[in-house]
Amino acid sequence: MEKKEKTYILGIETSCDETAAAVVANGNEVISNVIYTQIPTHTLYGGVVPEIASREHVLKINQVIKKALADAEMEWEDIDAIAVTYGPGLVGPLLIGVSTAKALAYAKNIPLVGVNHIEGHICANYINSAEPPFMCLVASGGHSHIVRVDDHTKYTIIGRTHDDAAGEAFDKVARALGLGYPGGPKVDKLAKKGNPNAIKFPRASVGDSPYDFSFSGIKSAVLNYLNGAEMKGEEVNKADVAASFQMAVIDVLADHTIKAALDHGMKSVALAGGVAANSLLRETMKERAEAAGLTFRCPELIYCTDNGAMIASAGYFEYIQGRRADLYLNAVPNLKIGER
Ligand code: KG4
Ligand code: ZN
Repeated sequence: MEKKEKTYILGIETSCDETAAAVVANGNEVISNVIYTQIPTHTLYGGVVPEIASREHVLKINQVIKKALADAEMEWEDIDAIAVTYGPGLVGPLLIGVSTAKALAYAKNIPLVGVNHIEGHICANYINSAEPPFMCLVASGGHSHIVRVDDHTKYTIIGRTHDDAAGEAFDKVARALGLGYPGGPKVDKLAKKGNPNAIKFPRASVGDSPYDFSFSGIKSAVLNYLNGAEMKGEEVNKADVAASFQMAVIDVLADHTIKAALDHGMKSVALAGGVAANSLLRETMKERAEAAGLTFRCPELIYCTDNGAMIASAGYFEYIQGRRADLYLNAVPNLKIGER
């Protein structure tokens, strides 16, 4: 038999409000990447409505997968394994991806691999040629972690948030500023017109843990500032609020990640998760990492927010380690990093 040069993984992602599928070769070469975003639907409600998200996934998943194969100019026989996000995330949405992946794996007789969504975000860095070891800041709508990545499948959590995730703080502040959902990109854009030093918002540290985060204090300080101004009948410069809030969050994210990397003797830092799309975070991390003598990596914007390629990448590294899921694979809404 002719030896195949590459291993092709079909990645499926439905943990929140993106229905996504992609074909990736050897964990780092994207052959196709199809994302159907439900953002316009959820915008009407100011946030993700889980039941509506599930229904939209059901409507779109087959088309998205078919398009991922068609764009890759591939048939089912070309696919070595199907990788699917089974947690963490919203249970209904996760179940759509998991059930679809199981049905396809069974019908087409293709191996199945379960992927942790957060590990998927981290693996998006391999698409941009990063190599472990590195210290990775993972900041999304549901998670804020500093993760030590020693190998493609070896993760240790070094820091975590004690309350809100960074993306959640962006979304809540955006709502208070009347910017709508999802807030991150809107705060990012408005902040470009504001002064990051206009208002001094707190940079919260947490007790004796130098790598942990707390964002509820910053968020409350912004809400108090806005309420105070309203009560006094003062005009608020929204761009200054957005810029000052963003700077406060990014200061803490960048400093803790770089400290963790230096303390752990790592030579490289990376970014992952939806907040990694933030332009100031990318700039600040690059500047501070390089000033500290560290190499900096971050995924391209399209691989920062939810996508199937990152799941296919994570799935590849699990697959070559021999890990397989069976047809009892279930959604695990609160799946932890490194849990198998
Ligand atoms: O990773 P992701 O797509 O979904 C989750 O796994 O949560 O992350 C979504 C989060 C949202 O909170 C969104 O506001 C935030 O990422 N986000 C951003 C930016 N783009 C997305 N936050 C700050 N700046 C951005 N440019
Ligand atoms: Zn995500």
